[in-house]
Amino acid sequence: MSARTLAGSTGAAQATVLGIGAYRPARVVPNAELVDAIDSSDEWIQQRSGIRTRRFAGPEESVQMMSVAAAREALAHAGIDAGQVDGVIVATVSHMMQTPAIAPAIAHELGCDQPVAFDISAACAGFCHGVGLAADMVRGGSAHHVLVIGVERLTDILDRSDRGTAFIFADGAGAVVVGPSDTPGIGPVVWGSDGEQFDYIRQTQDWRDVMTSDSPTMPALTMQGAAVFRWASFAMAKVGLEALDRAGVTVDDLDCFVPHQANMRITDAMARSMKLPASVRIARDVADQGNTSAASVPLALHRMVQEGDARSGDLALLIAFGAGLAYAAQVVVVP
Ligand code: COA
Repeated sequence: MSARTLAGSTGAAQATVLGIGAYRPARVVPNAELVDAIDSSDEWIQQRSGIRTRRFAGPEESVQMMSVAAAREALAHAGIDAGQVDGVIVATVSHMMQTPAIAPAIAHELGCDQPVAFDISAACAGFCHGVGLAADMVRGGSAHHVLVIGVERLTDILDRSDRGTAFIFADGAGAVVVGPSDTPGIGPVVWGSDGEQFDYIRQTQDWRDVMTSDSPTMPALTMQGAAVFRWASFAMAKVGLEALDRAGVTVDDLDCFVPHQANMRITDAMARSMKLPASVRIARDVADQGNTSAASVPLALHRMVQEGDARSGDLALLIAFGAGLAYAAQVVVVP
């Protein structure tokens, strides 16, 4: 045994969200545009999902372009220069290169100075994983200011003829800057996964199957909708309550509830299970934005901030869940 000891690392006393930004693609797509291909109707889609319109990205609205736009707004809101950012975490499942990750390219375009930059693959739960990681990095001393970006161009992996997914998924980007603070602005993360249900939401084929197929087709998202619905509506309410408990607050202290924008009925079922008081303002971005997977929580919080439903200093419960099945939740102070 060596007698030598290593220097430990210590960071800021606490971490907080300093700023938020978003990018919504220009093209608004109403249900009417999708229904013929899936033998559906505007009424059915609204009743089952709460979705009226969503945004689909155009050719120029790439994963990188949307990320940079959202990140620039978050940096400006935080009053932080790109040069001060020493960590960039990108949560996405729709960056179309297996390697390298998109985070270093985004960081470079933003003008960050050689930050640690990597992607995380936790699907719809990815943004809340990123916030949990970023807070630990700031408190642990491995970074000072971390950009967390949730971004998706799900239309690249969407089967427009699949009745269970074509009307749900959409495109966009949201970002926050996580940095140091004296008081806690990000509560303890409650996260985990249920790999027994690994195939509830998945890509139709893996890349080797595609490459060895006689008639290769682009893999698409596929989902066991009813099973996901049951899991999300019941199991996730417990995770949300645990995040409140770990943060030392109750539903009565909460100002805003910002769940993953999967489906309005899931949001309502969670709010009922958690017995949220009527005073808690609930994010309902899914109605006009669809389900943007890793981008959905920051997009939803951004809309609440913009519309005055979330004010600086408010307590917001963030919770995200999806393929894996992976989930993460934390209480944050709204920047
Ligand atoms: N349009 C019209 N009718 C449809 C349809 C569509 N897009 N998809 C299915 N149906 C019909 C079915 O044919 C069936 O008809 P039947 O009763 O005459 O046989 C009926 O609707 C019920 O089908 P089912 O597949 O059981 O649908 P559902 O009630 O489970 O609703 C979802 C489908 C996708 C809306 C629902 O499962 C859901 O919201 N799941 C959660 C999805 C989600 O939010 N995932 C994101 C998690 S990250």
